[in-house]
Amino acid sequence: MSPPGSAAIITRMPYKTDASKRLFDRSLGSLIEGGSSASRGPANFGDYPIFMVKGEGSRLFDADGNSYVDWMMSYGAVPLGHANPAVVAAAVQGASTGMHFATATEIELELAELIQEVIPSAEMVRFANTGTEAVMAAIRLARGFTGRPKILKFEGHYHGWYDDVLVSSNPQLRPSLGHRNSPVKIADSSGLNRRSQQDTIVVPWNDLPALERALNNNPGRIAAVITEGIMANMGVIPPQPGYLEGLRELTEAHDTLLLLDETVTGFRIAAGGCQAHYGITPDLSTFGKALGSGLPVAALVGRADIMDALSWGGVLHYGTQNASRIGLHVALASLKELVRDDAAAFKHTWEIGDSLCQGLRSVFTELNVNAIVQRVGPMFQILFTEKTEINDYRDFCTYVDRGKYQRFALALLPHGIYMSPAATLHSVATLAHSMEDVSFTLEAVRKACKDANLSE
Ligand SMILES: Cc1ncc(COP(=O)(O)O)c(C=O)c1O
Repeated sequence: MSPPGSAAIITRMPYKTDASKRLFDRSLGSLIEGGSSASRGPANFGDYPIFMVKGEGSRLFDADGNSYVDWMMSYGAVPLGHANPAVVAAAVQGASTGMHFATATEIELELAELIQEVIPSAEMVRFANTGTEAVMAAIRLARGFTGRPKILKFEGHYHGWYDDVLVSSNPQLRPSLGHRNSPVKIADSSGLNRRSQQDTIVVPWNDLPALERALNNNPGRIAAVITEGIMANMGVIPPQPGYLEGLRELTEAHDTLLLLDETVTGFRIAAGGCQAHYGITPDLSTFGKALGSGLPVAALVGRADIMDALSWGGVLHYGTQNASRIGLHVALASLKELVRDDAAAFKHTWEIGDSLCQGLRSVFTELNVNAIVQRVGPMFQILFTEKTEINDYRDFCTYVDRGKYQRFALALLPHGIYMSPAATLHSVATLAHSMEDVSFTLEAVRKACKDANLSE
């Protein structure tokens, strides 16, 4: 397994990225690694990232004039694709009538009511800006409401960069993980408040006995179990049949709140998110990414009696930028597009996801490439592995060749495909993708596998 960051950009004429290189060199005087997140820099893109200048529908255009079919789609934050006309019009409307008042606004009410309509567990709604912020508020609320100190999270789940949950969410070497009955908690960053992690219990996912053991070992101490409904930050790992239902039953039996983190799955898998798709009712859920259609809009929603603890700042959640009008205009327009015509948008993204993933599997078989494709609806990830299935974080850490994936993703760039640059980050189909994009991508994948020598 080669380490991340080891692959270099494969350059093929007439593919040139000189302008990106120049911008990157210039950026080193003002930006760390050329951008505002480590995942956009050399750790994922080799020598330097590609600087994008424009997005339109399913396409991105870079500073050198190259165009790409974009399957990363802003980490899934633009479910309608780039520069969707309804979204652009809403942004203009929001901007031209005052971007942000930080007062009560009718648009906030309208968006909250639409969210309540599509997500039945959203008895009440509170807006924030990012998934991280919504999760922070949800955890504080769970602790404040229950009076319990601990939270339980799962290995390999990412819930944002908040100290309490920034643990065991990066891939590690297998021996570091400890035994699955008592996982070693591995902090994902320097500088964390280590005491906050003393109250975080970490358990393997897709394993009900492990969850039950942890709940039994901490009677009356766990405020909430926080989970992604589909693991989306270790490739794509779906829940085993019955797993989420079992998780719901166990949390109920222990009077522990179920906090479903739908930052990725919300407004992506179905109009009603992962909870509608799998038929579970969480106590609290968090949304972000696709909700804002490219602007920072997130939401914490849930049971009215729990959410009521936010009243008068009893459980405090503030934020100058919460519910900016421009973001809410965009979110409302985007959500209306997603749910109209009986949520036809989701039918489209599932079909695109299905065709693409079937095609990818055929190409890998044809070229004798050891890779599998894991998918739920529009979310997918290619995993270079000899296994037929990756079921949890431990499988991912042990059997997935991340270096190979990175070589593959970088080899796709000269062929006009911008896929997730890291094996951990999934890719996603949006309303803007077409069957032509699928065919174009499959042809590019064929070439990239050859360029990067991925056949066995
Ligand atoms: C499941 C999940 N929760 C929370 C977050 C944090 O969201 P944000 O990046 O908007 O802070 C992410 C981000 O990728 C995520 O995947």
